[in-house]
This record gives sequence, structure tokens and C-alpha cells, in this order.
Amino acid sequence: MDVFEAMEKRHSVRSFAPDKDVPDELLEELLRCACQAPSAGNVQPWRFLVVKDEGTKRKLAEAALGQAFLAEAPVVIVICADLAAHSLSYGQRGKELYSVQDTAAATENMLLAATALGLGACWVGAFREEDAVGALHLVKDLRPMALVPVGYAAHEQEQSRKMDYKRMTTYL
Ligand SMILES: Cc1cc2nc3c(=O)[nH]c(=O)nc-3n(C[C@H](O)[C@H](O)[C@H](O)COP(=O)(O)O)c2cc1C
Repeated sequence: MDVFEAMEKRHSVRSFAPDKDVPDELLEELLRCACQAPSAGNVQPWRFLVVKDEGTKRKLAEAALGQAFLAEAPVVIVICADLAAHSLSYGQRGKELYSVQDTAAATENMLLAATALGLGACWVGAFREEDAVGALHLVKDLRPMALVPVGYAAHEQEQSRKMDYKRMTTYL
């Protein structure tokens, strides 16, 4: 699958085939592709936690305001930003803006790679940060940015509708 097809086919998957684990080689490929993303100054402030532990997944689902599908996925990848990495070079702008942008780019790379590998995934951003930090025992300066449940989709699903780029674009 080329990148155009992956972008076309990617959609959020929130229902996973039970008892169908994601092979470690595929997980590693997702992480490798995430790390190919651009980052300000090539600082690469992303850090990943690969969560397979049932209890921790349940805590993440609770932190995510009860989004139960997080606990139902065989694995949840937590994308964190190391805030110290950016504040060293870029101060407040690095800490507040670049860390968000860089990890968002890594997350999207991961979602596209999941699509190309035949996996289903979803970007989950609605969660109580303090609760996620507690569930994961994160050290100071590691900010959880996105939770990405990964598995095999339980069923086929319609693509969500996207607006035409022409409506969103102004040429000057
Ligand atoms: C920053 C961000 C946060 C999101 N948070 C959630 C979330 O907490 N729960 C969820 O089910 N989907 C979440 N999504 C997925 C969006 O709902 C989804 O991308 C959107 O509805 C478009 O659907 P598609 O991904 O199938 O194209 C989030 C997406 C982004 C980019």
C-alpha cells in the first residue's frame, strides 16, 4: 500500500477482534514509522509506552472518561512528549508548541502505518492527564499526548466523510 492509499483508507477503529494479538514485529514497525516523523530541530521528543497489561489498559480506559474500547484492544501505545528535550533548545515555545506538533506528527505516522499493515487503530486524546500519568507511573517531564489502541478491526466500517479541500483553502 502506498502512502496515498493509506491516507485514503485510514479511519478510526474502535472495535477490535477479540483474541487476535498484534505480532511484535508489527508493533515494532509502528514504532519505527512513528519515529520517521519530522520534529523541530530533529529533537525527536517522542517517547512510547506499549501497554499490554490488562489492569493498566483498564486504568487508561477510565482515565479516558470510560472509553471502554481502549481496554478491549490487545495493545495500547501511549505517545508521550519529553518536555525537557525541547525546553533545552527552544524554551517555552518548544515545551508548549513543538512538543505537541512533533508528537502529533509521530501519531499520524503510526496511524498510517497501522492502516498499511492491515491493523486498526484510533487516536484517543480525551483523557484526564493526571490519571493517565498515575496509571503509567510517568516520571516528571513526560507528558502523555495520545493513547492509540491497536488491534485487528472487528468488522468493516464506512469511512467518515471529509470536507473538500477546496472549501478549506485560500490561495493568495
Ligand atoms: C487530537 C485528537 C483527539 C481524538 N480523541 C478521540 C477520543 O478521545 N476518542 C475517540 O473515539 N476518537 C478520538 N479521535 C478520533 C476522531 O474522533 C476521528 O479522527 C474523527 O472523528 C474522524 O474520523 P476518522 O479518524 O475515521 O477519519 C481523536 C482524534 C484526534 C486527532
